[in-house]
Amino acid sequence: MKIAGHLFKNFNHQPSDPIFELMKRFQADSRSNKVNLGIGMYCNAAGELPVLRSVWLAKEFLKERNQPSRYLPMAGYSDYCCAARALVFGDDADTECIATIQTLGGTGALRIGAEVLKRHFPEAEVWVSDTGWDNHLTIFSNAGFSVRRYPYLDKGSYTVDFEAMYSCLERLPRGSIVLLHACCHNPTGADLSKAQWLHLAELVRDRGLLPFFDFAYQGFAAGIDEDAYAIRLMERQNMAFVVASSFSKNFALYGERCGALFFCCQNESQAGLVQGQMEYAVRGSYSNPPLHGADIISYILHETGLCDIWRTEVTEMRERISGMRQCLLDALSRNSARLDYYRLSGPRGMFLDSVLSPTEVDQLRSQLGIYLAPSGRLCLAGLNQANVEMVAEAILDIVDKRSI
Ligand code: LMR
Repeated sequence: MKIAGHLFKNFNHQPSDPIFELMKRFQADSRSNKVNLGIGMYCNAAGELPVLRSVWLAKEFLKERNQPSRYLPMAGYSDYCCAARALVFGDDADTECIATIQTLGGTGALRIGAEVLKRHFPEAEVWVSDTGWDNHLTIFSNAGFSVRRYPYLDKGSYTVDFEAMYSCLERLPRGSIVLLHACCHNPTGADLSKAQWLHLAELVRDRGLLPFFDFAYQGFAAGIDEDAYAIRLMERQNMAFVVASSFSKNFALYGERCGALFFCCQNESQAGLVQGQMEYAVRGSYSNPPLHGADIISYILHETGLCDIWRTEVTEMRERISGMRQCLLDALSRNSARLDYYRLSGPRGMFLDSVLSPTEVDQLRSQLGIYLAPSGRLCLAGLNQANVEMVAEAILDIVDKRSI
């Protein structure tokens, strides 16, 4: 018996995270024909997690250069921060007004952003979309916020229910924090149109709300620049807002934890103050971020030739995913007149709602080794020509059994 072993005996059981638990179960599954459509990770047409050519070339260069592993400053690698900011805000943004740090992926950016906001707006509530990415609830409530939901999806048309969203947001107290998915809304894939973003920007300004963008899928909806539309719109209008950006998906660098946090401020002196707060939060958390992934991304974004290769690779990933969406919907709709799967062709990005219940998702996994998130969310980027028909058949089989 350990001395003081009793100290931890009253810890509550913490249920595991549904998405990461699923990944663990998938890895432990010994069936050779298993299909991973759970976590949002991009696989190529051969079903493999790719190393992008641009990334491979950058790694070769960095290997050759063989630099020692120094500490980065609290804000991270400055070349990376500049390149990340240009990628998100475009070349003509007012960079002096944007406080910027490198973060541990998009999640790290959300967490540090939440901590900084909580210190300065202790009474504010955070509003996230219903439905949304569950980890937003965890991140903001761990930072001490009370988190509430605004309506988002019209399930009939599978588009954004903008009227309902707008009328909820227009009643919020000034200073409320509104979490928005800049593109490829997770899990629905239903995004606001340009006209709706314009309305929303007006509302946010009039009502004094604070938008907090989660930008995890830049390049996966319509293009690198197109997907930044809402963020650039608000920046050009000199609005105050926050962006958590992730490069896990668009560089296929999931394990490097590369992201960035931006606070768009109204002037340079505000940005300086916010910068100090962000760095303080980093110092008290993990001190400073790691170098390797930031070095790779920074090198790619600064070398024109490499950057062109990378942009083409992002286009290829996006087109492969939307091709798979189409293939799956074709197969589902060809074989079932009962469910209108075609309404799911409008949404964009990695995910599709399979319209299966948690029990049906369990059946798919246990009987056939097809892994979907418990919510029924299906990651299209795990599909390929070799498995898409089989997955469609399995879904329809389950749907058909409903009426028996
Ligand atoms: C997902 O939603 O599957 C990804 O964003 C990975 C994650 O961290 O949940």
